[in-house]
Amino acid sequence: MRSIHLDIAGQRCRIFPDASIDALREFCVPGNAVIISDKNVWHHHGHKFLPYRTIEIEPGEEHKTLKTISGIYGQLCAMEIDRSTTIVGVGGGIVCDIAGFAASTYLRGLPFGFVPTTLLAQVDASVGGKNGVNLEGYKNLIGTFAQPGFVLCDLSFLRTLPYDELKNGIAEAVKSALISDRALFEYIEDNCKAIISLDRNVLERIINGCLTIKTDIVSRDEKESGERRKLNLGHTIGHAIEKAGGYRHGEAVSIGIVAAAKMSEMRGALSNEDVLRIEALLASFGLPTRLKSDREAVMDAVGKDKKRQGTAVRFVFLDGIGNAVIETMEIAELEEVLF
Ligand code: GLY
Repeated sequence: MRSIHLDIAGQRCRIFPDASIDALREFCVPGNAVIISDKNVWHHHGHKFLPYRTIEIEPGEEHKTLKTISGIYGQLCAMEIDRSTTIVGVGGGIVCDIAGFAASTYLRGLPFGFVPTTLLAQVDASVGGKNGVNLEGYKNLIGTFAQPGFVLCDLSFLRTLPYDELKNGIAEAVKSALISDRALFEYIEDNCKAIISLDRNVLERIINGCLTIKTDIVSRDEKESGERRKLNLGHTIGHAIEKAGGYRHGEAVSIGIVAAAKMSEMRGALSNEDVLRIEALLASFGLPTRLKSDREAVMDAVGKDKKRQGTAVRFVFLDGIGNAVIETMEIAELEEVLF
C-alpha cells in the first residue's frame, strides 16, 4: 500500500490513499476499538463492521452538534472503554469531524483514525487534524487540533454514493491542485471521464496528490497561522453561499473558487485564459460557477464569517494555476464579483 506520512509534534499520522477497510486490523485490535459511523454508511456497509463495537449517528450537517457528541460520550461511558481503546470514524467529512472531536476529548484524548468513505473526505477532510462541531448555525465553532493516527482511503465506498456527493470531492481536489500543483490540475483536466466513472488508478493518483499537498502544508502550519489558510481557497465565499442556502458544499466551493479566480484576474495575478480554464474544468463535472441564489444573504453571511477581521477578511488569491497567495481585503470588494 502506498502511504504518506504527516509528522507533527513527534507523532506520525499514516495515510493510505488506496487501502481497504479490511486493513483496519493492522491499526487496531477489533476487540479494543469502537467504530463511529452514520446510518447511510451503515445501510450499505454495516456488515464490514462486524468484529467491532459500534456507535451509530444520524447523518447530516444538522447533527454535527454537541448533542451528538454528548450521545457518543454516553455510549463510550456505557462501554466502559479506557485510554487504550481506538476510535475509528468511518464515513464522510461530518463523521470524521464528529468522531475526531469525540475521540480527542473523551478521557482527555483517545487514539483515533479514519476510514473516509466520500471523495471529499478522502482528498481533504480526513487529514489535517482539525476536528469540530457547529454551534448556533456557525460551522466548526467548537473543536480541537488532534491528528488521527491513521487514515485508510477505501475507494470501494465511493461506488454506493450518488454523483452529487462525488462532485463535492472534485471541487476540493480542484482547489488543492490550484493552490500548489499545476500538474495535478492538468491531470484532472485530462481525466474527467475517468474520474466520473470512478477509475481506481486515476482516483488514487488524485487522492495521493491532494493529500501530499495537504500534509506538506499542515506539517509546516498545523494551527493555521499562515500558509494553511491557502487551503481555504474558494471557502470564504463558499461557506457564505452554503450558509445562505440552496447549494451543497462542493457547489458552493466551486462558485467560490471561480469568484476568487476572477478577483485574482482583477488584481493582474491570473490571466483571463486561466480563469476560463478553471471555470470550464469545474463546469465539465456539472459544478456551478455562477451564483444564482440570494446575493444579499451571501454578503450578510460573509460579514458574519468567524474569521473576519472588522470590515476585512483574509482572502486566498491565485497567482497563476498552482500557486496561491493570502492577502487581506475589504469585504465590500467581494460585491464586485458576486453582483
Ligand atoms: N480535518 C480536516 C482538516 O484538518 O483540515
